Amino acid sequence: MDNRYIGIFDSGVGGLTSVPYIMDLFPNERVIFFGDTARTPYGSKAPETIRQFTLEIGAFMAAHDVKLMAAACNTISATSLEVLQAAYPDIPVLGTIDATSQMVAAVCSPSDRIGILATKATVSTEMYPKAIRRAAPEVTHLYQKACPMFVPLIEEGIVDHPIMDMTIHYYLDDFIRDNRIDTLVLGCTHYPLISGNLRRLYPGIRLISSSKELAVALGNELRDRDLQADETNERENIFYASDLSDSFLRMTRQLLGDGAKKRNIRFKNLDLGGR
Ligand code: DGL
Repeated sequence: MDNRYIGIFDSGVGGLTSVPYIMDLFPNERVIFFGDTARTPYGSKAPETIRQFTLEIGAFMAAHDVKLMAAACNTISATSLEVLQAAYPDIPVLGTIDATSQMVAAVCSPSDRIGILATKATVSTEMYPKAIRRAAPEVTHLYQKACPMFVPLIEEGIVDHPIMDMTIHYYLDDFIRDNRIDTLVLGCTHYPLISGNLRRLYPGIRLISSSKELAVALGNELRDRDLQADETNERENIFYASDLSDSFLRMTRQLLGDGAKKRNIRFKNLDLGGR
């Protein structure tokens, strides 16, 4: 039993999409969330910059004695997980990519044609195709697409809007048609926020969410390491953002619904000093 915090982080609001799964699946757990909203997006930055930001977040989480760190960010998972694991060998550090690839292996068949949507930084590492090939060697039709405009629009709250639909058409119409895609891996935790648009524009396509798969992997890790919290856990959840904007607050309330009140969440601004 371990009632310390779980540290969850992302470049911005995207990582919030993992939080409802974590809170619903593991109600005794308490979370320190950090969204680096002042420096988002990470996905268009150089790997060295992303690694530096990630180490700053890791230091903050370690100073709060978290029992586990979970990068609810595919860009961090693709570029910086190893440096974070090396910096904190005594703290389990989880990312999204292996967990999501396990789900691809579980639900996809060899004939499936899988489109991996992610940021530029994630795509350039090829971490997703490598991890999926490891998890499911028989799945061979893998195609990647970087969609760099999705994150800035989502951070601005432009989701149920024709501009978002136009942007989706711009990136995905040819990609889906030419590669005869039947499954989309949402390889960025911001993208579940446009899953409604994707379902409406491309009905019948299977969506696999990295946000959900991270939560499932986190539960397995807590169980395997005997780190689960119990019902005596009375800590509050603390949500930090480097720019505690209206959009961050709105997105949290939208994603957690009534849960935001019930869950005793405190919001705080956090300047990591690297700006
Ligand atoms: N939500 C993040 C991801 O999963 C980062 C997006 C970004 O900052 O570009 O990749």
